Amino acid sequence: MIRRTDGDPVGTQEGQSMGSQQKAAARRMPWPPEAVLDKPSALTDEALFRHSVISPLRYPGAKRQLVPVIESLIRANVPPPRLVVEPFSGGATTTLRLLGAGVVEHGVLADIDPLIAAFWRTAAFDARWLIDAMHEEPVTVARWDWWRASNPRGRRERALKCLFLNRTTFSGILHGRAGPIGGRAQTSAYKIGCRFGLDGLTRRIKGVAELAATGRLLDVWEADWRTALANIPKRYGMLEPSEVVVYLDPPYVDKARWLYQWSFDSSEHSDLANALGPDAPYRWCLSYDDNQTIRGLYRARPGQATLHVSHRYTAAGSEKRTVKDELLVTNFCLIPGSDRYRVLSS
Ligand SMILES: C[S@@+](CC[C@H](N)C(=O)[O-])C[C@H]1O[C@@H](n2cnc3c(N)ncnc32)[C@H](O)[C@@H]1O
Repeated sequence: MIRRTDGDPVGTQEGQSMGSQQKAAARRMPWPPEAVLDKPSALTDEALFRHSVISPLRYPGAKRQLVPVIESLIRANVPPPRLVVEPFSGGATTTLRLLGAGVVEHGVLADIDPLIAAFWRTAAFDARWLIDAMHEEPVTVARWDWWRASNPRGRRERALKCLFLNRTTFSGILHGRAGPIGGRAQTSAYKIGCRFGLDGLTRRIKGVAELAATGRLLDVWEADWRTALANIPKRYGMLEPSEVVVYLDPPYVDKARWLYQWSFDSSEHSDLANALGPDAPYRWCLSYDDNQTIRGLYRARPGQATLHVSHRYTAAGSEKRTVKDELLVTNFCLIPGSDRYRVLSS
């Protein structure tokens, strides 16, 4: 079943040559374009999608606790969206969950980071290769150094680099100065391979591939958020604006520079706020760590609501309960009452 919208046929092997006629045919598929939005077929590993952690990637800022709130907003509003697009995918927690739970039928992931985009593309459409390659990897500090210094050009090697560094580096940070889990001397109780469990990762990667093979995860774009938003009407113009929901989880205001290769400066936060104005041709939800700059940017905008979400969690490796305050801004009309959040403005 061919479901991709960019014409790159599912399972095309990198390095495998395609004739120009084949390439042209691939570019034309699928036809008619509406066929990509056919009802998804059944999932085989339903138990995986009931689990709270589905993503093979660990990600700073992963928004797992916000997903039930986003889900309740989507369910409360009509018509139900048929497509979710996540332009700052990172670990893609939200989209994987919405697709796996059947809250939205179809989804597209996008991220500016070539390693992240290559990872999702490969997990979705070339999973066998990724799983086999992952099993071949020696999980050692020497190998960590090798991946850190490498500059792969091919999609597959970028995907493997992303997976390896994400699962073996402190906090899952791919770029910058973060070191390997357990330190260079590996004297800690937590060694470099402690988050590289092959069985769990295999099951989660297969889960992503299944979301793609059943027609749920439609595509992955390596793109800046502006391009991703502009692509929506170009690629999915057959949908009504109300049938599309965009979930945006941009880099942090304060800490992003340490966590991601691509962070935002203040002008980019306000550019994004301007793009999410009253004319946005889709419904959207935006999450941020609670911050005065962001409160100011989204204050008192007609047709939008800002929710304050506060949750308690215990960080990995700590005994202490921490409170995390987040903002969820949305143009969904109906905000159901809930004790999960406080409505700051609507
Ligand atoms: C906060 S993380 C997303 C975390 C994700 N929601 C999760 O739950 O794992 C932000 C992501 O935005 C990406 N990013 C940064 N600048 C971007 C840009 N200009 N356009 C698209 N993606 C960008 C980063 O590469 C990073 O993966």
